[in-house]
Amino acid sequence: MTTAVQTKQHLFNNYGQRALTMVSGQGAYLYDETGKEYLDFTAGIAVCNLGHAHPGVAQVIAEQASTLIHTSNLYAIPGQFALAEKLASLSGLADDVKVLFVNSGTEANEAALKLARRYQMQQGHGEEKSRVLSLPKAFHGRTMGSLSLTPKAAYHEGFTPLVPNCETPPDLDSVFAAVDETVAACIVEVIQGEAGVLGIDPAFLRALESRLHAVGALLIVDEVQTGVGRTGTFFAYEEVGIKPDIVTMAKGLGNGMPVGAVLAKKAVADAFTPGSHGTTFGGNPLAMAVANYVVDTVAKEQFLAHVREIGDAIEAVLHTYVKNVSGRGLMWGFDVPDAANFVARAAALGLLVTSCGACRIRIVPPLIIDQTHVDQFANALGVLTSVSS
Ligand SMILES: Cc1ncc(COP(=O)(O)O)c(C=O)c1O
Repeated sequence: MTTAVQTKQHLFNNYGQRALTMVSGQGAYLYDETGKEYLDFTAGIAVCNLGHAHPGVAQVIAEQASTLIHTSNLYAIPGQFALAEKLASLSGLADDVKVLFVNSGTEANEAALKLARRYQMQQGHGEEKSRVLSLPKAFHGRTMGSLSLTPKAAYHEGFTPLVPNCETPPDLDSVFAAVDETVAACIVEVIQGEAGVLGIDPAFLRALESRLHAVGALLIVDEVQTGVGRTGTFFAYEEVGIKPDIVTMAKGLGNGMPVGAVLAKKAVADAFTPGSHGTTFGGNPLAMAVANYVVDTVAKEQFLAHVREIGDAIEAVLHTYVKNVSGRGLMWGFDVPDAANFVARAAALGLLVTSCGACRIRIVPPLIIDQTHVDQFANALGVLTSVSS
């Protein structure tokens, strides 16, 4: 019998954690160890789209866990066939889209980077066509490849040299100008979450897509944060009129069960052959059972319409109280004078939000919130903005 350990002394000190311990959740609410209730507008950082302790999710987990949790990709996993078919159809891309299952967002992007380079190799190119570009203020993850495509200098400190030929030009014009025959791919977010929920100009994205295709380079869209209904369509790229060659996903796909995915057109996906890439856990039966359930629920037009409608209500509240509001669906950013102070005062009031910059707040509530949650948020925001913070 082990006794409860109360200190973090044996944990790595790599997270700037708040002094809060959550012990349970229900719908859009979290409860800490004192029993205090919080309206959770962080949703595990855009993950728990169906809310906490969702009965359907819990049932699927219980049933699958008592049947089969894991086998590895040594054997066929029927849940992967079903989910891949759904994601391929929802992608609106070619009929022959293929899917690879992984375990996180950074892993999905890592696979996309490898896939893009290997695709170019199979097209007969060598390392002269291995450059991969990303956009200013992008965030693609923390593993070496994803990190090399994430420009924030603080995240690179102590980790250089990064992956060669990964480039992060300083502005959109220089991204465009950097595209030539030596580029293998460019990765973009349609709405940059970590940057402060900033939408990239759709006209720029369409022009970039044409330019990339003109030089035989691939467009990778990172839907890790925006995907699975977060912006009111299943994928955010649906609204900007681009057709990616590769799409990466994670976060909301498993409602908290670690699962990610890479979608690619067949011609690109076929660059991975047996043995060229893999993961022990990727797409295991438990992850697939949950992700199939989540996708079946979120992809319903009625569910997505709800996200758009309640998102409009949130947007109206934000415009009443705060400045520089940006976002779509249930992913919003806004300015405050001091984000750290705002986050702490919000938590004291029973509202959880995250900062994404010294003066910027991001809200990514569960997609199941209703008008009562919007009203509660509006009341809290009214209090929080009544004194300058
Ligand atoms: C757009 C985007 N890409 C990739 C990642 C990395 O995902 P993960 O934390 O699951 O590795 C994130 C995480 O915040 C993200 O927002």
